Amino acid sequence: MQSRQSQTLRLGECPRKVVGWDTMVPVVDGTERRYVSLDNGASTPILEPVRDVVDEAYKWYSSVHRGAGFKSKMSTYLYETARKKVATFAGADDGAVVIFVRNATEGINVLATRLGLQPDDVVLTTVMEHHSHLLPWRQFCRVEHVNVDDNGRVDLDHLQLKLTECGSNVRLIAISGASNVTGVVPPVSDIARIAHQHGALISVDAAQLAPHRKITMGPSGAEDSIDFLTFSGHKMYAPLGSGALIARRELLTQDVPHLRGGGTVSWVGLEEVVWNPSPGRDEAGSPNVLGAVAFGAAASILGEIGFESIVEHERELTTHALDRMRRIPGVTVYGPADVPVAEDKMGVICFNVEGYAHEHVASILANEWGVGVRNGRFCAQPYLERLLGLNKDEVLDYRTRMFGGEKFGLPGMVRASFGIYNTIEDVDTLCDGIEAITRGEHVEYDRDEVTGDFIPRGFEPDPADYFRW
Ligand code: ALA
Repeated sequence: MQSRQSQTLRLGECPRKVVGWDTMVPVVDGTERRYVSLDNGASTPILEPVRDVVDEAYKWYSSVHRGAGFKSKMSTYLYETARKKVATFAGADDGAVVIFVRNATEGINVLATRLGLQPDDVVLTTVMEHHSHLLPWRQFCRVEHVNVDDNGRVDLDHLQLKLTECGSNVRLIAISGASNVTGVVPPVSDIARIAHQHGALISVDAAQLAPHRKITMGPSGAEDSIDFLTFSGHKMYAPLGSGALIARRELLTQDVPHLRGGGTVSWVGLEEVVWNPSPGRDEAGSPNVLGAVAFGAAASILGEIGFESIVEHERELTTHALDRMRRIPGVTVYGPADVPVAEDKMGVICFNVEGYAHEHVASILANEWGVGVRNGRFCAQPYLERLLGLNKDEVLDYRTRMFGGEKFGLPGMVRASFGIYNTIEDVDTLCDGIEAITRGEHVEYDRDEVTGDFIPRGFEPDPADYFRW
């Protein structure tokens, strides 16, 4: 039996250990530049060692949980070992069940259907949430929202006030482990304690947190433990379509699974069904074995690299970026922008450049500097509106303009989000690009009235020229 010896990856090696780290992309002057990927809040590239584990797993791939052959046994072993690795990564104990899902969004939706929420129940969430942690509760019960302050931090006094107002109806506090817009990291353990003292449960959307900070769900039932945790492989260097909902088993009170079918049942008659215990109950159909393997491998590798060095590296990049960006005239940074970076902020920076639309800035960075960022409202519309200081009339106005077909002049920001493989050089390329924009040094751009994009005049490379199917 041959198995590859794994070697611990060190943080300093990461810049050259993501697949595609040296990919060249076309820019407006007709040359190519090394792609600087600063959109890790959206999705991360795959780590080479994660790809290597998956490469090795391919030859063992077969049916899982079902077949009698040795490869089926291997696939089952790989899938279930991945589950254990994800549990270890999250600091979950035996009282918790790891349910593999496609991504955090799916995990939260599974949770919402399995909590047995009643119309009188209240889910208390916050204005800072990603839409995926904001919307799934609405179809089942009342949702109340905790405010944030001007820097985007959750207002804990308002949380207490809301708890008092809503009383024992609060079933769940649903809070982001970290914001995908400002990188703010709320005090989750404190909020867990507050939730439990109030007789409520806590769900943490850790999609952004998981690649950046050590997570400890904690012992089931402990006062500061997390009851439900969701996160995604594609944001932690394993973009093969697997994520997890980790739940305290006994709290999934609604019997009927989100999806029904093969694997979810232990007995079926024409009039009767007996559901399997979870995780089987919640993983209908043939699962994504190789996605889970990638996810489990990434969880192990991040743990081996160590979150102390990950946090320190990220703080170095973020401090450098903020230090430079604060000194560029006309640049507004949203959220906490202190240098050095505060403990409760990760490496995510949202900004705007005076006189430029966010789409325009992102397009210049992409087409002239080879820098990949995201712009827009980042699936966190209420939070953006709060950070931009829009009043009700201004929100109504842009809503009207948007549904009237307007593509330009709508509120938004540009976001740079860092990963373990980014370097100070990457940050400098971003800041050089922003500085050039503020000096007006860029080519002419045309607006595409259909897509809302800013296109550099005469330059539109065709992706089909860069890939052979
Ligand atoms: N939620 C992801 C982001 O913030 C997609 O970009």
